[in-house]
Amino acid sequence: MRVAVLGQIARDLVLVVPEVPDAAGTAPVLERREVLGGKGANIAVGLAQLGASTTLLGVVGEDDVGNGLVDRLRADGVDTSAIVRRGRSALIVDVVCGGKWRYLQDLPESSLVHEADVMTSAVVGADAVIVQLQQPVDAALAAIRLADGLVVLDGVATGEQLAGADVLRADHQEGEELTGRCISSTGDAVLAGRELLGRGPSLVALEVRGVANVLVWSAGSEVVPLTDEDVVDTTGGGDAFVAALTFALVRGDHPREAGRLAVAAAGRAVGHAGGRSDLTGLRV
Ligand SMILES: Nc1ncnc2c1ncn2[C@@H]1O[C@H](COP(=O)(O)OP(=O)(O)O)[C@@H](O)[C@H]1O
Ligand SMILES: [Mg+2]
Repeated sequence: MRVAVLGQIARDLVLVVPEVPDAAGTAPVLERREVLGGKGANIAVGLAQLGASTTLLGVVGEDDVGNGLVDRLRADGVDTSAIVRRGRSALIVDVVCGGKWRYLQDLPESSLVHEADVMTSAVVGADAVIVQLQQPVDAALAAIRLADGLVVLDGVATGEQLAGADVLRADHQEGEELTGRCISSTGDAVLAGRELLGRGPSLVALEVRGVANVLVWSAGSEVVPLTDEDVVDTTGGGDAFVAALTFALVRGDHPREAGRLAVAAAGRAVGHAGGRSDLTGLRV
């Protein structure tokens, strides 16, 4: 199985603090992790851990941080041949306090994927192409148009992007933004999912915050409750979800089973601070 992933690559600095200080205040750091992050990298690493040949389309800086990010991706088994080097590497600081995150992001314009960065050979022939939509619209659209495999979108898609999608996954806020509906129950999510099916995709996965993820396809729907993991930081939950959902669909799982694997994967990402997860235990 070969999968291409388009999305952000960043250095993640994860800090767990007992309180967020006010101005001129200080807080100790209880736990600190400096890891490879960014949604594109997280999704790609998850897929590699599940056993897919994974190519990542993204940008890292022409700096030492960039060298480290590329080395880490290679060590994680991700194909880095479609990664572009320019400018300075993106940095995301994830401040985790009492189960809630705050992100401080330095995402230079040069660290975003531009249309010209989308390497045709990485996308054409892939069994699936995952496009993380927090990237310029044109670059995402270029990848969607080139793809001849399953097209999986994560985030708020434009009408044109949705028309080219097979699968759309959205977190709670994104689902509400896409539909203009309030999604406060699994029933709301099924209705929102049905509406989104009419715009192009054949499978929609929507988060109902704190409750479940709901899969909707033309012939049915499935509500997959969250795992009983104690949530430390939801960061990376969506990335793990998308990686596992795509993996399962490409190998031929029914959407119901794919949804279960996706939620199990998300559960593995939320019990610790930071977005890096270990999905190797989900390999079968
Ligand atoms: N206990 C849990 N078990 C399984 N999934 C969970 C749990 N808590 C949160 N999740 C899922 O994690 C995901 C977080 O998504 P998202 O906010 O997009 O994360 P990110 O963009 O940081 O990867 C959601 O789909 C949510 O349902
Ligand atoms: Mg997300």
